[in-house]
Amino acid sequence: MADLSVEFAGLKLKNPFIIASSELTNKVEKIKWAEENGASAVSTKLTFLQIPLYARPYHIIEKGGAFYSPSGERMQVERTQELIAQCKEQTDLKIIANMMGPGEDLEGWAKLGRMLEEAGADMLELNMSCPNLGLMAKQMGVDEEPELGATLGKDPVLAGQVCKAVVDAVGIPVMPKMTPEANTMMVARSVQKAGAAAVSAINCPQSLPPLDIKNGGHPMYPSTGNQSFAGLCGPWIRPLAYRHIAQMRTICPDLPLAGGGGLMNWRHSVEMLMYGATVLTYCSLLYLKGYKAFAKIEPGLRKFMDENGYETLADMRGIALKYIVTPKEVDYIPMLPAIDLEKCNGCGLCAAPGHCECIEIIDGKAVLVDSKECYSCAVCYFLCNREAITMEKAPIEETRAGVAALEK
Ligand SMILES: Cc1cc2nc3c(=O)[nH]c(=O)nc-3n(C[C@H](O)[C@H](O)[C@H](O)COP(=O)(O)O)c2cc1C
Repeated sequence: MADLSVEFAGLKLKNPFIIASSELTNKVEKIKWAEENGASAVSTKLTFLQIPLYARPYHIIEKGGAFYSPSGERMQVERTQELIAQCKEQTDLKIIANMMGPGEDLEGWAKLGRMLEEAGADMLELNMSCPNLGLMAKQMGVDEEPELGATLGKDPVLAGQVCKAVVDAVGIPVMPKMTPEANTMMVARSVQKAGAAAVSAINCPQSLPPLDIKNGGHPMYPSTGNQSFAGLCGPWIRPLAYRHIAQMRTICPDLPLAGGGGLMNWRHSVEMLMYGATVLTYCSLLYLKGYKAFAKIEPGLRKFMDENGYETLADMRGIALKYIVTPKEVDYIPMLPAIDLEKCNGCGLCAAPGHCECIEIIDGKAVLVDSKECYSCAVCYFLCNREAITMEKAPIEETRAGVAALEK
């Protein structure tokens, strides 16, 4: 039976599942749900020495589309200290305290870290990645806010200084949380040098939701009169999260990584591990589908590992990285689409793409009319809803890509 336990930057976790910092983790009652549904740790809601600005939580859920979170309630340190104490008393979870110091004031970061350590936090997560603070003010030319959130996290030198200040001040592991707006490889390297025990990634990139175009471009959602830029979360950022984790794992092979961003099921969790994550974080899954969906990840992951011969998480960690090469090194295999006429219903999805004239619908069925023009791009294969197209190896001289390669 697969062993899901993992040692993460000195924390012994029964499994790799962590609930990410958000309003899911601002009350002990909610944190208990996390434990009941199988999490091993939580990252508490963002905490400040002094909350810099009031922000009521609001969210935008585009029907059939993305999930935006432009703002959220923040915690004053005294409240988080109480929350940590309650969690320690009432749960067996490891408690990671997500915190943001006052910009470039290193002593402020250190002081906040010490206060959270004294309250019983097992680890500190340095939020240098919130897209809703600092970054927006900077982009809009407002100077009054200090370097906060993603503004700070984009600067490898400042990120390293902040990390070192907190590492020097506390005895528990320190984990900076990365913004995808940054070159995370450089920032991760800088904070590792500064003593970070781990890194977590990714926080939300900045975005804007759709508009009420019949109302002069007014925001879609009803509960605010205007809007600010919004953190984009959920499935839409997963490929971005994979990229950042894979890049950081490559550049910092020994750095424990908490990988998250758009993980919605056990399959995504496996992919994130294979791209190099040590543990996994979940947020939007809970917002959009609740704890019932989260609770399915553990049995799904365990079954996958048992069926595929992985005994521990370390057996899977980073195993996909060997397939990531430079474009020059990509191994091209000449292939052609093979169409199963029994399954094909002539819907025309495969014939529609604007870059390709190889497939036509003739007498209600898809027909490969010009194999010599086929690049083996496989778009038709991915578009077919009926699994009527398979890609099959072809003699090199029969495909356009093959011919081009031969002529080189
Ligand atoms: C409503 C909401 C509030 C969040 N609050 C915080 C926060 O306080 N601190 C933080 O580091 N990240 C915060 N995040 C970011 C999440 O922790 C997570 O990194 C991000 O949403 C990507 O993961 P996901 O796609 O699983 O949601 C918040 C996200 C959402 C949706």
